[in-house]
Amino acid sequence: MIRAVIFDLDGVIVDTAHYHYIAWKRLASELGITLTLQHNELLKGVSRMHSLEIILNLGNIRLPQAEKEALADKKNKWFMEYIESIRPEEIFPGVKELLVNCRKQNLKTALASSSKNAPRVIELLGIAHLFDTMVDGTMITHSKPDPEIFLLAAKKLDVEPGKCLVFEDAEAGVEAALAAGMKCVGVGSAGQLNKANIIVKQTADFDLAKINSIL
Ligand code: BG6
Ligand code: MG
Repeated sequence: MIRAVIFDLDGVIVDTAHYHYIAWKRLASELGITLTLQHNELLKGVSRMHSLEIILNLGNIRLPQAEKEALADKKNKWFMEYIESIRPEEIFPGVKELLVNCRKQNLKTALASSSKNAPRVIELLGIAHLFDTMVDGTMITHSKPDPEIFLLAAKKLDVEPGKCLVFEDAEAGVEAALAAGMKCVGVGSAGQLNKANIIVKQTADFDLAKINSIL
């Protein structure tokens, strides 16, 4: 039986994935690199510095660490400006209800986001009370596709990884969930997420009544 549901944040609960994209696109453009939506799929779920390295590789640019850190900080400042106006109304339709229903069915709930900004986003959305535990980018050493973040969430929930179901919109996130020995719902299009156990277009399309049929 599935005992816990673990949610990614950006692109699963709210469309902050878009703000990451426009901030990276702005930075890439300053570096003379055109960042496409297709490139952006590679940035989803991975850490800030890893994302920057992917972008620099696209432009064959090599920089010293201090300059890379300055660029990552610049992108993050823009991202923080974009998210400051986020309101609870921007939570994807049906997601709050899904979280409430998970808890009604005695499923534990966790947030597992690679983002160091996750606590601020959750605060702005006013949904911290719907999670039994939260893990973010400040608490891990290896970001997705490494399974560390999901294994930590399972440990904090005291649930075996094999009894956890993860919601993910990123290819790196799907890989991380499977590497953790968990089941995974891919949120988005089949192309990028075809390794997921099931794919839904939107998070709330998942039928909670059939959760154990994924096993
Ligand atoms: C993930 C996003 O949730 O967090 C990535 O999918 C992002 O796009 C990563 O790079 C790190 O976020 P932050 O907020 O710590 O720069
Ligand atoms: Mg995501």
